[in-house]
Amino acid sequence: MKKMIFSLHPNIQFANTFSKELNAELGLVEMRHFPDDEIYIRVHSDVKNKLIIIVYSLDHPNNKILPLFFLSKTLKELGAKKIYLVAPYLPYMRQDKQFNSGEAVTSIYFAMLLSSFIDRLITIDPHLHRIKNLSEIYTIPTTTLHAITPIAEWIKTHIKSPLIIGPDEESTQWVSEIAAQANSPFVIANKIRHSDANVTITLPDINSKNGTPVLVDDIISTGTSMCAVIQQLLLNQFNQPICIGIHALFDYETQKKIMSYGAHQIVTCNTITHPSNAIDITYLLLEGIKSD
Ligand code: R5P
Repeated sequence: MKKMIFSLHPNIQFANTFSKELNAELGLVEMRHFPDDEIYIRVHSDVKNKLIIIVYSLDHPNNKILPLFFLSKTLKELGAKKIYLVAPYLPYMRQDKQFNSGEAVTSIYFAMLLSSFIDRLITIDPHLHRIKNLSEIYTIPTTTLHAITPIAEWIKTHIKSPLIIGPDEESTQWVSEIAAQANSPFVIANKIRHSDANVTITLPDINSKNGTPVLVDDIISTGTSMCAVIQQLLLNQFNQPICIGIHALFDYETQKKIMSYGAHQIVTCNTITHPSNAIDITYLLLEGIKSD
């Protein structure tokens, strides 16, 4: 089946690489807002009988989900055979249970919504904690990729004597693998979250303080988790840490806050376009698309 790529992602490098490597045309869509903020969409390419690959990272999802829905419906109306969504960042994965009575379990509802108009989803390190596999909540085929190898390669190339640190128990899944690939020791801290902006971190016993601490988390959002670990490390006379996040959900103020707590550097994968991007995941996504 002929393939066509539609990029709604600011990083056009993804679409250009996929187009070249998959021998797929780039599709053209016109999207704008009417004066009252409603969305206008017009597809200018012939999509009939084609497999469409939409590239769109869904950070700040509330403003993106409606355009994505309208575009998908239009493509199907115009005869597209199947629609794959390549969403390097998949949102609404953290409210995966009812923590307090009356709360919406938005992970489930968002999965229902996407599953209703997309035929396949490809994503990188969705926040899998209490939900162990996307197939528990998505009814369409999903491909979950992991940024472990690109992160381990970056660490091996850039850091001498790394000590890899996961901020909380759920980070063990990626921290242990990254450490194995980077031939480095790792430890996992204990995190208790009291609120969005308040966590308590306890470090385990660590023998040597000589190396470079490398904190690795899946998401950096308010920076609260990173700052709390940095604080504990510096209180215990460790070197200034490097902070690595897979998904950069943080803004400039948060970046300044993390640096002011004593981070040596903040580095992220380019799943979400951000000034801290230094680890490229284009070819990881490509492998995921090809794994069909
Ligand atoms: C939470 O469980 C995640 O793995 C991250 O630790 C969390 O989302 C980071 O958020 P923040 O930067 O707001 O502490």
